[in-house]
Amino acid sequence: MSLCRASRLALNASLRAPLRTLVAGQTALRAAPCAAAIPRFAVSPRFHASTATQEKPAAAAAVPGGDATKLKLRTTIRFKIGDKVGALTDVLRELRQLNVDLTRIESRPREAGTYQFYLDFGARDEAQIDEICNHMRSFTEDLQVVSTGDMGLVSMQTAPWFPRKKSDMDTFAEKVMEYGDELDADHPGFTDPVYRERRAEITRIAKTYKYGQELPRIQYTAQETATWGIVYKKLTALYKTHACREHQYVLPLLEHNCAYAPDNIPQIEDVSRFMKESTGWTLRPVMGLLSSRDFLNALAFRVFHSTQYIRHHSQPLYTPEPDVCHELLGHVPLYADPDFADFSQEIGLASLGASDEDIEKLATIYWFTVEFGLCRQGDEVRAYGAGLLSSFGELEYCLSDKPQKVPFDPKLAATQKYPITEYQPLYFVAHSFKEMKEQVRDYAATMQRPFAVRYNALTESVEVLDTKDKTLRYAQNIKGELMRLISAIEKN
Ligand SMILES: [Fe+2]
Repeated sequence: MSLCRASRLALNASLRAPLRTLVAGQTALRAAPCAAAIPRFAVSPRFHASTATQEKPAAAAAVPGGDATKLKLRTTIRFKIGDKVGALTDVLRELRQLNVDLTRIESRPREAGTYQFYLDFGARDEAQIDEICNHMRSFTEDLQVVSTGDMGLVSMQTAPWFPRKKSDMDTFAEKVMEYGDELDADHPGFTDPVYRERRAEITRIAKTYKYGQELPRIQYTAQETATWGIVYKKLTALYKTHACREHQYVLPLLEHNCAYAPDNIPQIEDVSRFMKESTGWTLRPVMGLLSSRDFLNALAFRVFHSTQYIRHHSQPLYTPEPDVCHELLGHVPLYADPDFADFSQEIGLASLGASDEDIEKLATIYWFTVEFGLCRQGDEVRAYGAGLLSSFGELEYCLSDKPQKVPFDPKLAATQKYPITEYQPLYFVAHSFKEMKEQVRDYAATMQRPFAVRYNALTESVEVLDTKDKTLRYAQNIKGELMRLISAIEKN
């Protein structure tokens, strides 16, 4: 998920997010935390976020702190404050008085009249964290410590927080920027109270999900299943001539193993188990619009945020956002392919602790590949992007001679502008998923991130390679794998 409303979540999300990111080192903050200062963007009528609409940090705040070399605990807290002129200024003044070493501050609009803030800062010890929190509770609401831990490398002190283990993603539920039951006026289900209540019901179920639990099973109605059936028949008729061979290979396996059928909407628990056995990827239910950063970070763990609600029955071949048809027919088949799975994880790994500018670029690469990518297979060009494989109209259009098609180059794709309300005028054509993976890995190496990370599949956690011991252990693991590889080659 997640650049769509839900998965727009995914990606999309953050990009069009009503999010201000204020990073220490920039200039002084001018805007008060009010709706006028932090405008909400219109919901994208397409699937995942648009970098074109990303809100740039309008201001910045740097709060003087102490000697960074003496700070040991990198801490993230969140709290709410009312929407009134000068409220944020008051918060920053208090932080200065507490001598807090603030490295990052983000704000997001919540229910009417309030804004939620996330603060990252360095602390000397637990006592200082308690002191700061106790003081701030006197003028904020619902203050909670989201995370705290060793700051490790000096370079990590100013890097945006990122999850280190899968359960850390449970905090994403508290950072959703739009919930799945918040529909725009032009959504086909906007005036249908029954549909809206159903969306709210499924959103509530997703909101309570925690890592390690069985994924929620939804009892879909006959009307919802009928909508799925229309989409299923229409799209599968096109796949033989338009979908990449990897998609065509996996879809029958999903029919055999996960009850994909025109008269049945598969359960994401069953689908996630299949993905886990195929490539180690899993699904997580998403309750709304995640930021691009959160959505992309999850990819590093081989986790994909998936919606569970379905488009409105009045327009079965149209949806302004990701829904269960988009996730299960567009995304899932590719995540069961080993090379595509590796490629997607590379984007996720590159996003961990990345700057806001690099997150925007990675989200755009995601847009032109995972959502709207084409690939060359033999003498033909086929679609592998989920936005194409779940859109009857664009799937035909993308392979016609109307749009421009250029070879995939992550450097070009990262900054390519694109529309979100109409078919894409330009597509990037990949040579292979294997090559794409190497290209994105090379691109990530050029990003200005002063530390390296790796995903430990055994512990399902992300390790920052910030000490000689960790790096040496990693090298020894690779050496062991190489020895096994050489042995296998010698025997063949
Ligand atoms: Fe998507």
